Amino acid sequence: MDSQEIIARTAEFVRQKFLHEGSGHDWEHIRRVWQVARQLAVSTPGADMVVTELGALLHDVADWKFHGGDEEAGPRAAREWLSGLAVEEAVMQRVEAIIREISFKGLGVPTPMSTLEGELVQDADRLDAIGAIGVARAFAYGGHKGRPLHDPAVPPVAHESFASYKQNVAPTINHFYEKLLHLRERLHTPAARAVAEERHRFMEIFLAQFLREWSSEDVGAG
Ligand code: ADP
Ligand code: NI
Repeated sequence: MDSQEIIARTAEFVRQKFLHEGSGHDWEHIRRVWQVARQLAVSTPGADMVVTELGALLHDVADWKFHGGDEEAGPRAAREWLSGLAVEEAVMQRVEAIIREISFKGLGVPTPMSTLEGELVQDADRLDAIGAIGVARAFAYGGHKGRPLHDPAVPPVAHESFASYKQNVAPTINHFYEKLLHLRERLHTPAARAVAEERHRFMEIFLAQFLREWSSEDVGAG
């Protein structure tokens, strides 16, 4: 099977799997990450397009958040799928590494990627967590988990460990301070950093307006 067919089959496999997912990990998220990762790969010398595309398509295939905290569920599911397509071992290992390493694990936890392609997929995934889409996805996730929008009595926490980050059940607004506003600083490629500027600014404007409305500051006295 040639690599274009492997990618097309993988896209269809993932699309079917994620079609009815309502927590912000839907097929359209995967499709955007796939698209953006490809664009980043084009402007990155030395990046392998097949590893980038397979990594992007499979990066959320079995997220620990939805698999009882099992961090190996994703790499395992990817290997099962790719070995069925007779993908070579070296490619499979790089795709597994992307899935294993990609997630944010708390402000105090570095998440370096061991491959160049992993950096591109992580950048694409993180760009999709900020900006207008990022705002929408955060509230979709919070709603899915039954979390309040905001609670001024619950301050944000700078999670120093993955264990602490995993246990978090805070209101959705806290997620901006605990993660989303920090993603801009954690991108690898200059192209992604440039895109992040406007998306980051948009989140700051959103938060300022949200908090003004929360306390009715924008409702004039007379
Ligand atoms: P990552 O790709 O870094 O692992 P996640 O899978 O944790 O990202 O997040 C997927 C989407 O769900 C993102 O848009 C993220 O902001 C959102 N999300 C994750 N955790 C929370 C949370 N506690 N509150 C609100 N949104 C969240
Ligand atoms: Ni993702």
